[in-house]
Amino acid sequence: MAKARQSFVCQSCGAVTNRWQGRCESCNEWNTIVEENGGAGGGFGPTARVGRGRPFALEALAGDARPAPRIATGIEEFDRVTGGGFVPGSVALLGGEPGIGKSTLLIQACAALARRGERVIYISGEEAAAQVRLRAERLGLSDAPVELAGATQVEDILATCASGKRAALIVIDSIQTMHTEAAESAPGTVTQVRASAQALLRHAKLSGSTVILVGHVTKDGQVAGPRVVEHMVDAVLSFEGDSAHHFRMLRASKNRFGATGEIGVFEMTGAGLAEVANPSALFLAGRDAAAPGAAVLAGMEGQRPMLVEIQALVAPSSLGTPRRAVVGFDSNRLSMILAVLEAHAGLKLGMHDVYLNVAGGLRADEPAADLAAAAALVSSLTGATLPAELLFFGEIALSGSVRPVIHAGARLKEAGKLGFRRAVLPQAQQTNEDDKMSGVALSHCGHVASLVADI
Ligand code: TYD
Ligand code: MG
Repeated sequence: MAKARQSFVCQSCGAVTNRWQGRCESCNEWNTIVEENGGAGGGFGPTARVGRGRPFALEALAGDARPAPRIATGIEEFDRVTGGGFVPGSVALLGGEPGIGKSTLLIQACAALARRGERVIYISGEEAAAQVRLRAERLGLSDAPVELAGATQVEDILATCASGKRAALIVIDSIQTMHTEAAESAPGTVTQVRASAQALLRHAKLSGSTVILVGHVTKDGQVAGPRVVEHMVDAVLSFEGDSAHHFRMLRASKNRFGATGEIGVFEMTGAGLAEVANPSALFLAGRDAAAPGAAVLAGMEGQRPMLVEIQALVAPSSLGTPRRAVVGFDSNRLSMILAVLEAHAGLKLGMHDVYLNVAGGLRADEPAADLAAAAALVSSLTGATLPAELLFFGEIALSGSVRPVIHAGARLKEAGKLGFRRAVLPQAQQTNEDDKMSGVALSHCGHVASLVADI
């Protein structure tokens, strides 16, 4: 009998080698290479022969060009991210750290769909069906006719899904717990994850059911799986948030049927995930406008304007090397802003500890956050409180000049809605008549030196 083909598969990126190595040459991760049996390469088996194929008819794009009807869950924050609902026959991967709320989100989406009369199947490989039902009861969803099962064998799951009415949505929680007879290696390995995902993908395309695969990812991406299926699926959604805070954000990093800029905002409550229709109001709630060191940023999360508070603390240091610490902000950007403030605005910050925090556990990653961060830093240093109805956006260049940013109109509109009366924005920022209608007075700022002089 021929010896089974041995191969070594990186559990992080899925690269295949023919010998064991301590470090994967493809992704440079250590200790991720594991020996797996047979078919690991996902290549063609011995049955593939050149010349066996038959030609098939190609179809033109014109003709029956009606857009496929989407299946909306009715949870607006969710549907916004998927581009208005799921496309029948599509497969999405929902990634996120363990405990962030993926199962909660999906059981709520399933219940919402099931109440609309669709057949919805929720397969849990991690919890027993009774546990899932218990959670649904706690969330007040026990009346929704979602079909639940605790199963891990892909062939069994597909047999169940194929019998009866076509399911509108099948949730697989999680793909790492699934195994298929088509691959020999242990559950959770890259080979199993890929083969299971492939079988589910085939089912989705043939049946027209939408399939959502849940994938756990750890902070350093150590766990096998989700990354190797990203290229196979139609959409990659990620559920993010800080477990210390209640806010959760759903984003699409890939979507074949919609834009990827959209985000959905939720709040984790005792009764499950609640939609946050107006995130800015929530993120600004409870802010202490009378304290120095806080500036409001008119930021963007994808296509959605979001106002957040940036807090700074600048205090004399007792250390030889002063501390610089950030939460929700890039530490390199902070260093750069401090250097620019010293070099071009004459501030002395070399003997001060500097802390910068974005309120609500959010991240302010865009360059447009520079001006608000600088304003918060100056306000904390000088002790001058910034007016409560004032906000900032603009990018700071190394020369100290303030550069224009994108989406000025959307930022100003959101600011106007929330009662802000004045915005400090870049000198060269183009604004139009609509922006003047937002009710926000515009103060153009061309250089950090003039920002410091005004505070
Ligand atoms: P879960 O959906 O199980 O996370 P995941 O599937 O991503 O691993 O959510 C787990 C966390 O959510 C858990 O720590 C408790 C919290 N939670 C609430 O705060 N309220 C709720 O109503 C539910 C169901 C969970
Ligand atoms: Mg879960």
